[in-house]
Amino acid sequence: MSSESPSRLTALQARGFRNLGSLRFGPGSHFNVIHGDNGAGKSNLLEAIHYLGALRSFRGAKTDDLISLDSESASIEAELSGGAAPHKLRVEIGKSQRRRLQLDGKRPRSTSAWYQTVPMVLFHPGDLVLASGSSDKRRAFLDRMLEQMDPVYGSTLASYEKALRSRNRLLKEEHVDRRSIGAYDVILSKAGAVVGRARQRLIEDLGPRVERAFTDVFADDTPLAVRYLPRVEPSEEAIAAALARSFEKDRARGFTTAGPHGDDLELRLHDVGARHHGSQGQHRTIVLALKTAELDLLADRTGRVPILLLDDVSSELDRTRNRRFFEMLSHAGGQVFLTTTHPEFILLENDRVDFHVDAGRVTRSPVRS
Ligand SMILES: Nc1ncnc2c1ncn2[C@@H]1O[C@H](COP(=O)(O)OP(=O)(O)O)[C@@H](O)[C@H]1O
Ligand SMILES: [Mg+2]
Repeated sequence: MSSESPSRLTALQARGFRNLGSLRFGPGSHFNVIHGDNGAGKSNLLEAIHYLGALRSFRGAKTDDLISLDSESASIEAELSGGAAPHKLRVEIGKSQRRRLQLDGKRPRSTSAWYQTVPMVLFHPGDLVLASGSSDKRRAFLDRMLEQMDPVYGSTLASYEKALRSRNRLLKEEHVDRRSIGAYDVILSKAGAVVGRARQRLIEDLGPRVERAFTDVFADDTPLAVRYLPRVEPSEEAIAAALARSFEKDRARGFTTAGPHGDDLELRLHDVGARHHGSQGQHRTIVLALKTAELDLLADRTGRVPILLLDDVSSELDRTRNRRFFEMLSHAGGQVFLTTTHPEFILLENDRVDFHVDAGRVTRSPVRS
């Protein structure tokens, strides 16, 4: 990973975002340990950084919930180094206005262009559903990665999803218009093949990295197998045929059954599904292995080591695994932001800056001795 140049946040300012007040934050270039009591605003700070990359809350919050209770709008501004050129980013959200984006003072060409500006990988405790939850969570994980690497992917996926909603609406009507359905089948099979193949290729590259991280970093000697599990083979012909074949069934159910909206990223431990058979500890390490692999793959494919955001990760791992994980991250060389209630449990000595958060105020802690 050392040949890639890391993306780094060199300055962050926020106003009116959650409880952060008027924030000026100057992070260190490697490990940033953000500590404070429960409810202090640690996750809010991570959420502000993440919002800049993903343009949505990782906690699923609506825009209005992100804006401070005593404010009508919020803004986040950041300077970013690494990649071809340094960038200045600015996002403004409001209770009664559209989101405004600025990249180096100008409106970006598209939202999908924005996603490639700030490569980021996030882990938060809610991510456990990637191992224990339903397949939509894993599809979203894959889609978010693909969006960060490929501006065309996001728009293809959006047209697939739009056609799917329209087809489902038609299926529910009393008199079904087969010709209109047929028109959507064409869009669904074309866009669906692109989406499915992109996910398939991604998993071919990602899978071995996840399996390796699971064993090497997280020291689990149970063999983990990761593979693509499509509901329909990702080709135009196969999807078109499946749509035609399932028409009567779809009609009866009122929704479309076949297509990449049924894809899954299969995770098997000892050859049984990890979702129902893995322990909670194994789910945790599988998810961290997924994130480790995501970081590694994005760095390879984009030439930039993503910024890593870890919300409460140390409480998720035992001492040995924590140490190995941080060792691996030190080698990767990227910028890391991690939150914790117990900074003394973060087993890092070098390249570390600590920040204390109290009622939304972020201050740099004295250098630890
Ligand atoms: N829109 C908002 N305006 C003001 N305060 C908020 C808003 N949303 C959440 N908060 C406050 O933020 C705090 C939670 O911050 P959080 O970052 O989740 O804490 P932690 O440090 O435990 O991660 C709570 O005190 C909550 O009241
Ligand atoms: Mg928190």
